[in-house]
Amino acid sequence: MEVIIRPTTAQAVELTARLLADTVKAKPACKLGLATGATMEAVYDVLVKMNKAGEVDFSQVTSFNLDEYIGLGPDDVNSYRYYMNHHLFDHINIDKRNTHLPNGLAEDELAEGINYEADIEDAGGIDVQLLGIGNDGHVGFNEPGSSLSSRTRAKSLTPVTYRQNCVYFNPPESMPKRAFTMGVGTILDANRVILLITGARKAEIAARAIEGPVTSMVTASALQMHPNTVVILDADAAAQL
Ligand code: GLP
Repeated sequence: MEVIIRPTTAQAVELTARLLADTVKAKPACKLGLATGATMEAVYDVLVKMNKAGEVDFSQVTSFNLDEYIGLGPDDVNSYRYYMNHHLFDHINIDKRNTHLPNGLAEDELAEGINYEADIEDAGGIDVQLLGIGNDGHVGFNEPGSSLSSRTRAKSLTPVTYRQNCVYFNPPESMPKRAFTMGVGTILDANRVILLITGARKAEIAARAIEGPVTSMVTASALQMHPNTVVILDADAAAQL
């Protein structure tokens, strides 16, 4: 695991966006694993600017997002499909037919997970997986206790995640309690992983994920076993390393 600490959030974000853009430049038809959350908004802002400036071309890129709330459709402002369209896909030259998220409205949950895994496999696997980290150490929505070999499936969200994310919902109680998520095993299958952690509130969980034991109670710690992972932190998030 390579750990890179940048002094400011903007520099950490810039580096993350540049590594993603470099992947696309080196392999125009690459498969990107994408993430949501407040941390990623700035990364997508940089990628949009780069695309508009003609520095990176997404026309041949295929994307797979980590997760989606169960019960939310694409037009719901809190769905991750809406987030991705709003923050990235609507503003870059990606072919939206090549952008994938689990279907939050799928009736057969088991089949949805299996089909999502098959779609990733049919695409040839993920070249670079972008990740954030939840306050409880989750990647995707792989909450504490998730098997480190888990695959895409429905997962119940923990109270910590509920408290972190319900602020985006109106009313907060309308936040779904479950989500589809790629598994830890799915994430570990990516050729390269980029984990971006910013802000003082993530400092403790960042230290546990990077320097603590590999444990299903902090699923980000499983990345210590991945041979090609880079963790990018700003100084605030790195304060307890
Ligand atoms: C959600 C997503 C995670 C993301 C996390 C971090 O829980 N499922 O993939 O890493 O948010 O969110 P934020 O960047 O808002 O702290």
